Amino acid sequence: MIFMRTSWAGIVSCLVLLNIGVVVAGDTNSLLDISRDGMLLACANRDSGTVTIVELGTHIKRAEIAVGKHPEGVSFLGDSHRLAVAVYDDDRVVLLDADTGAITERIDVFDEPYGVVSNRDGTRLYVTLDYPGQVVEIDPAVGSIARTIESGDFARGIALSPDQSRLFVTQYYSGAVLAIDLASAKVVDQWPGISNDNLVRQIAIHRQRDKAYIPHIRSRVTAVHGEGSIFPYVSVIDTAAGEGSRRKRIPMDAFLGNLVTSNPWEAAISPDGRQFYVVLAGTDDMFACDVVDDDYREIAYRKLVKLGKNPRAVRVAPDNQTLYVYNALDFSVVAYDTQSLSTKATIAVTANPLGEEKLRGKILFYSAQQPIVGRRWISCASCHPDGQQDGRTWHNPEGLRNTQWLAGLAWTHPIHWSADRDEVQDFEHTIRGPLMQGRGLIRGEVQKELGPPNKGLSADLDAVAAYTNSHELPQSPHAKAGLSAAAQRGKTLFFSTQTKCATCHAPPLFTDSAVKTMLMHDVGTGDDDPGEKLGPKYDTPTLLGVYRTAPYLHHGQAATLKEVLVNNSGDRHGTTSHLSAAQIDDLVEFLKSLPYEDAESAASAAGLTKIDR
Ligand code: HEC
Ligand code: HEC
Repeated sequence: MIFMRTSWAGIVSCLVLLNIGVVVAGDTNSLLDISRDGMLLACANRDSGTVTIVELGTHIKRAEIAVGKHPEGVSFLGDSHRLAVAVYDDDRVVLLDADTGAITERIDVFDEPYGVVSNRDGTRLYVTLDYPGQVVEIDPAVGSIARTIESGDFARGIALSPDQSRLFVTQYYSGAVLAIDLASAKVVDQWPGISNDNLVRQIAIHRQRDKAYIPHIRSRVTAVHGEGSIFPYVSVIDTAAGEGSRRKRIPMDAFLGNLVTSNPWEAAISPDGRQFYVVLAGTDDMFACDVVDDDYREIAYRKLVKLGKNPRAVRVAPDNQTLYVYNALDFSVVAYDTQSLSTKATIAVTANPLGEEKLRGKILFYSAQQPIVGRRWISCASCHPDGQQDGRTWHNPEGLRNTQWLAGLAWTHPIHWSADRDEVQDFEHTIRGPLMQGRGLIRGEVQKELGPPNKGLSADLDAVAAYTNSHELPQSPHAKAGLSAAAQRGKTLFFSTQTKCATCHAPPLFTDSAVKTMLMHDVGTGDDDPGEKLGPKYDTPTLLGVYRTAPYLHHGQAATLKEVLVNNSGDRHGTTSHLSAAQIDDLVEFLKSLPYEDAESAASAAGLTKIDR
């Protein structure tokens, strides 16, 4: 046995001999996992709704299994070839046998399962629910939920401590990391982020040092015109108990001289604990680094590797020799030699399910490079990842503006809180403006917002519109079993002539505004922000999906739905002053239940049509 100079490396060698805690499949959430014997790789194909199983000896795709809408995390169970898949939009964890491709179990959860990890003997699975922010413990033997643990808003990243006693969970928007003790199911430690830490979707655990690594961005909402506001980071968490600052941020934009990278999506540590990788989904590259055993530098740059389109996952094989990257918009997994970083194999894992136009649009939406972005630090997806909001209120030139969820967008034009755009093609102004500083997608002149159409002037821009308009609205999880008694009472209040809610928020889309009949209303919110340039009237926003889009109103100043209803002086926003506290609660229950039916079918049935620009 060769003794390493650094202390933890010595420990690694001992652990290898004792075979403790070194190679563990699925102890860090990822869209990729490798079975503990190193034979199989699984990846979740979000757009295809499938999981692909690759045989690693031959790099041959063995099977592609339909699992449901928008699979995210995958994890092998213990040392078996059984696989757990978190299917985000079906609210379900699917268990399958990766050898036969057979689905063995479907376990329903409340909503939005994202990350999944397995304990070492495969007897427990832990799954984060993005909304409402919980961890569920699943007993895979019986296919049922054993415990539900509250973990704050929007839980995504999840990792199991090497001694299997604690879970580490990341909050997507606040950036906080929580430690949950598994014996007591209590939060026993935490590492809060700073206010602009954002989009922490994964946590990679180091198995020999007391460290965890979280890739994320920082969203500096106060930057003038948003210029230079988004930064890529990897934060290192000291997981051992201790005093003082136990969380350090390593910037990824100037990590290598002045080379700007953007949108870190996932990170990986090799099983031997010596290599560190982070994939950057905006600039399509990866930093390969060495783990440094000091609390000051943490990681040392080794090489920048150019990847395929929109890399979202990275994983190192148990033998530490091969690393795998998932290029989501190439629909491929690429194998690299960890020493030379040269390509060993490219494996097509699924076919493009989007069609050519939407794929082109999606690539541009995620790209932080020309022609859409000038200086590589931002993309549309930095603020609208997978069409969702970034949970932030930006200090835009026109005033405070809360980022909107793009779900159902094709039904709810006009665009923006102030209805200052009528087609997604108008985002050519954003692309060429100070925020993105791209060359632009139209050759020559751009038409004014709300002016003659920009549609038809650029195939690429039309593709961005086709993709942006493609985000569908899921049903509210609060209405899965129909409206509750409280929501029923709230519904009656909502449609009553006293409150007048439905006069503006008219079903089926819960808005009275459309491109041809643009209606703006002053509901008393325009004076709250002294910097406002376009108020005091705003486009009536749809209420479909408001259960998961806090904070509320154009300026994001209402933290909860209840605040929207009670901070209504002079009854300028519907009439709420006559309502009792219990009635306000009922009304909130109703709002949380939207949509309680398939909103798009209801809109079609009402004679409305989707907008294609
Ligand atoms: C810096 C963060 C940021 C970036 C980058 C960004 N957006 Fe937005 N987006 C926002 C904010 C904030 C709003 C709300 C703005 C408003 O209403 O005036 C918004 C609103 C939208 C809406 C309106 C949704 C609705 O329901 O009306 C669409 C569509 C949209 N963005 C698409 C894009 C596209 C396409 C790009 C890239 C070309 C992009 N965004 C880049 C933050 C961003
Ligand atoms: C006169 C038209 C009108 C009436 C009546 C009205 N609203 Fe609104 N509602 C709006 C407008 C306009 C906004 C956006 C205001 C802003 O962003 O500052 C809004 C915003 C909201 C929001 C925030 C949505 C979000 O995504 O942030 C909620 C929730 C809401 N309304 C619920 C209600 C309820 C419940 C009632 C009845 C008590 C009601 N509204 C009555 C026009 C109206």
